[in-house]
Amino acid sequence: MFHVIDPRVFERPLLDELCALATRARLLAKSDTGARALRDLLPTRRAMLYFTQPSTRTFLSFNNACHILGMRTSEIRDPSTSSEVKGESFEDSIRTFSSYVDVIIMRTKESGRAAQAAQLMNGIPRPVPVINAGSGSDQHPTQALLDIYTLQRSFEETGGIDGKVIGMMGDLKRGRTVRSLCYLMKNYRGVRLVFIAPEQFAMQSDVKAHLDEHRIPYTETPRLDDALPSLDALYVTRMQTEWDTAARESQAVDLARFSIGPPELSRLKRDAIIMHPLPRGPEIAPAVDQDPRAMYWRQERNGMWMRAAVLIKIFGAEDRIADGT
Ligand code: NCD
Repeated sequence: MFHVIDPRVFERPLLDELCALATRARLLAKSDTGARALRDLLPTRRAMLYFTQPSTRTFLSFNNACHILGMRTSEIRDPSTSSEVKGESFEDSIRTFSSYVDVIIMRTKESGRAAQAAQLMNGIPRPVPVINAGSGSDQHPTQALLDIYTLQRSFEETGGIDGKVIGMMGDLKRGRTVRSLCYLMKNYRGVRLVFIAPEQFAMQSDVKAHLDEHRIPYTETPRLDDALPSLDALYVTRMQTEWDTAARESQAVDLARFSIGPPELSRLKRDAIIMHPLPRGPEIAPAVDQDPRAMYWRQERNGMWMRAAVLIKIFGAEDRIADGT
């Protein structure tokens, strides 16, 4: 594992290994001795967090994952403080970061930037890995990994992710998290997907073509009520209003139809789970937080452990926290 750009490259053995590593790190961190062992894993490595698009969870979870592993971090969050404003090219900026650090973790408003950075790295004498922490409305591979970890943990006692019915609701057209998660589904047997979205924000054809190619069945409906009783997991997303044009197309959506509150909870299976990448809007009523099926706060914490697992794997430190360490 070097760059983490496109979720399609992940195969089941690596996903299982990353989930096991995340659990190992999570459990180790519970004791002082374990936390110190984690801090001694990568103390000579440095990370650059280049996050020029707003971020709370992804930034903080990567930042803290680095610190848990003893890594040091530097960051650029506001492009107006970088030499890009003096006209430095994106390529030169990335090459500069790579002069100082051992991994570049980046989130950008533009699609394809992380891939561009990774390609640039492949052509220089001292390349460092690039991790895509969200590229435009395109992909968010580490979110998909933490979502898999959350699904796997939640279904540990009910046969794992294989065979589950997973609903994805909301702005599926512009939500990069659901797009990336769909790309990981080929690794699980018998999964069925249900897309619950307003017609104008339906899942895009590139993802559907991928699902067809891998024979992953999916259905589409604008009616949550019809889908609810069949779901093992409901992955809720917010309207991605930041991508609206002047026509403000999100405002035409009757959000109440793509939201979950107490009435919907009563129709959801007793052992189903509710996920959300967060931040949430009105699509999940705060009352849902009290329900044991609400998994989004755990999902958010899982993100830090999965990102620690990704860093451990990138730097080849996995054998040093094998069971018994
Ligand atoms: C998501 C994102 O940035 O794509 N947030 C996150 O990383 N947890 C989802 C969103 O913003 O809707």
